[in-house]
Amino acid sequence: MPNNYLHHTFGLTGRVALVTGAARGIGFAIAKALGHAGAHVVINDLHAEVCDEAVHALISEGIRANALVMDVSDHASVREGKLALVQKGMRVDILVNNAGNQNRKALVEMSPEEWQQLMNVHVNGAFNCTQTFLPDMLSQGFGRIVMVSSVSGQATMPLISAYSTAKAATASMARSIAVEYGADGITANAIAPGFVKTDFTKGLQEREGFEGYLKSSVPAGRWAMPEDIAPVVLFLVSPAGGFVNGQVLAIDGGLLARMG
Ligand SMILES: NC(=O)c1ccc[n+]([C@@H]2O[C@H](COP(=O)([O-])OP(=O)(O)OC[C@H]3O[C@@H](n4cnc5c(N)ncnc54)[C@H](O)[C@@H]3O)[C@@H](O)[C@H]2O)c1
Repeated sequence: MPNNYLHHTFGLTGRVALVTGAARGIGFAIAKALGHAGAHVVINDLHAEVCDEAVHALISEGIRANALVMDVSDHASVREGKLALVQKGMRVDILVNNAGNQNRKALVEMSPEEWQQLMNVHVNGAFNCTQTFLPDMLSQGFGRIVMVSSVSGQATMPLISAYSTAKAATASMARSIAVEYGADGITANAIAPGFVKTDFTKGLQEREGFEGYLKSSVPAGRWAMPEDIAPVVLFLVSPAGGFVNGQVLAIDGGLLARMG
């Protein structure tokens, strides 16, 4: 293997990667992985303090990074975000639609507004960012888009109907982009993580009996950590993943493969 094989296969030097909802959790781990592969990473989240903190942590590891505060569910906010990047002379080559929210509630108890809040962030957020950043990718003939979907988009459990619906929609959006723009140098894929230990799953981590459920239902027998997820995104957006398009890749320790 030539010395520069890994660099040519997984390197992202010269690329700009925008990761939404990246101040913590899975998004932060993805930003770190892409940054270590050579990309300049743009850390998006809702508030300046958390974005700045994440950016400083990455810079201290030698990664080139800057913050971009915007609410992905608000189309005008995303447009303003893009303008702010343009003013810095930056153009997004890689977009990771990761920002997400949750509301565990029975379907009949969920208000239309609560249902809509999940659609707004997961589905409209992914649309707003894709619709805003894809045109520049098209004009340069290169772009990589990854949706952070979930195993819940393919199989589900009680109390997460809105979340599961939204996650299935983002996987479908990845396929649509792949088919519509595959001839223009764009790839779009979705990842479907299983149970990942982040603030997002605090409720599950504290729920009695959940560890036992995890051990018996996940063949790997453990929680995923954000670091289990991030390298798979790196693969999809790097030269190594250049011919992978329109896929939904489960990163679930075997959860979806299990029959009993
Ligand atoms: N943790 C899991 O088990 C798991 C499993 C499958 C998929 N996912 C998905 O992975 C993604 C990241 O999850 P996580 O576990 O790191 O969660 P997290 O709550 O730790 O991080 C989500 C981030 O998104 C940000 N965010 C929320 N709404 C936003 C908006 N409108 N605009 C910009 N940023 C916004 C939050 O502020 C937060 O920093 C989510 O899409 C989630 O649905 C998580």
